[in-house]
Amino acid sequence: MSSPDSFKLDLPVRPRRLRRSAARRLMVEETRLRAADLIAPLFVVDGKPAPEEIASMPGQYRLNIADLVKECRALWKLGVKAVALFPKLDPKLKNAEGTEELNEDGLILRAVRAVKKAVPELVVITDVALDPYTSHGHDGVLNAAGDDVDNDRTVARLAAMAVRQARAGVDFVAPSDMMDGRVGAIRAALDAEGFSETAILAYSVKFNSAYYGPFRDAVGSAQAAGTKLLSKATYQLNPANRREAMIEAALDTAEGADILMVKPAGAYLDIIRDVRERSDLPLAAYQVSGEYAQIHAAARMGWLNLERTRDESLLAIKRAGAGLILTYFAKDVAKALAG
Ligand code: PBG
Repeated sequence: MSSPDSFKLDLPVRPRRLRRSAARRLMVEETRLRAADLIAPLFVVDGKPAPEEIASMPGQYRLNIADLVKECRALWKLGVKAVALFPKLDPKLKNAEGTEELNEDGLILRAVRAVKKAVPELVVITDVALDPYTSHGHDGVLNAAGDDVDNDRTVARLAAMAVRQARAGVDFVAPSDMMDGRVGAIRAALDAEGFSETAILAYSVKFNSAYYGPFRDAVGSAQAAGTKLLSKATYQLNPANRREAMIEAALDTAEGADILMVKPAGAYLDIIRDVRERSDLPLAAYQVSGEYAQIHAAARMGWLNLERTRDESLLAIKRAGAGLILTYFAKDVAKALAG
């Protein structure tokens, strides 16, 4: 036996050769994030003089329309091409039918008009779902018995909602409700009203996830329902199901979705990969509020490095197959990429 010091493997293949220097590592890097891959979700609120930080989402704010416009300008300058807007309504405006959504001068529509006017090239995406508007916090309206969301009555509402958003000037409508048949109904309604250029970013595979907790604080859907454990199990997918996810992606494709989305992202990388392999449509993934909160919480404890964990989490989502990522880290990452 030779001593460890003189020991030499007869080894022609040595992967470490490519890792020897920063330059070599960069040359063989397979996945890279770009600012244009990122979509920034933003929360908008009426009548607040200053941005309100969301307790469970450090660094994320509910913005009034003026501040929202400023934030959109800043994102555009940093190379972020798209924002996804969510309204936080005064609880007094909520009811079981979510009638504030019918208001042609409602918060989200005013926000869209202001952003499109100030930064016309920025791609504006709005959520199509009733949860910011309903007193029970569900994404749709309830059936006669009041024990479940009524699919078809909800779809009719969502199709009209999408048309209102298109009229306000959005580039994409993003149905996040998981009702059956809503993508087809929205496409038909948009086309019938002359909005054939308004695209659909479909939350195709949206799981019934605990990771949405901080978002429900942000838009107040949990408070409205009086519980943080609001169950959306009758419409969102069971996290145990992979084949069912493929059925949902295929349906949205057939119904006319322009971009598919998987949500949440980090715990569903296998699903992202599956959809990527089966579909030729662009694919997005949503790194949701709980994923963001988790990284921030551990960083605050001093247990994880914020920037490295953030970048690794996003790289993993892109490597899994998502070309676009909705993430609350969008601005920070775009800044870091800009150097
Ligand atoms: C609701 C909606 C949710 C999110 C986006 N749209 C939450 C839910 O389904 O309750 C979650 C986003 C996040 O957690 O960041 N239509």
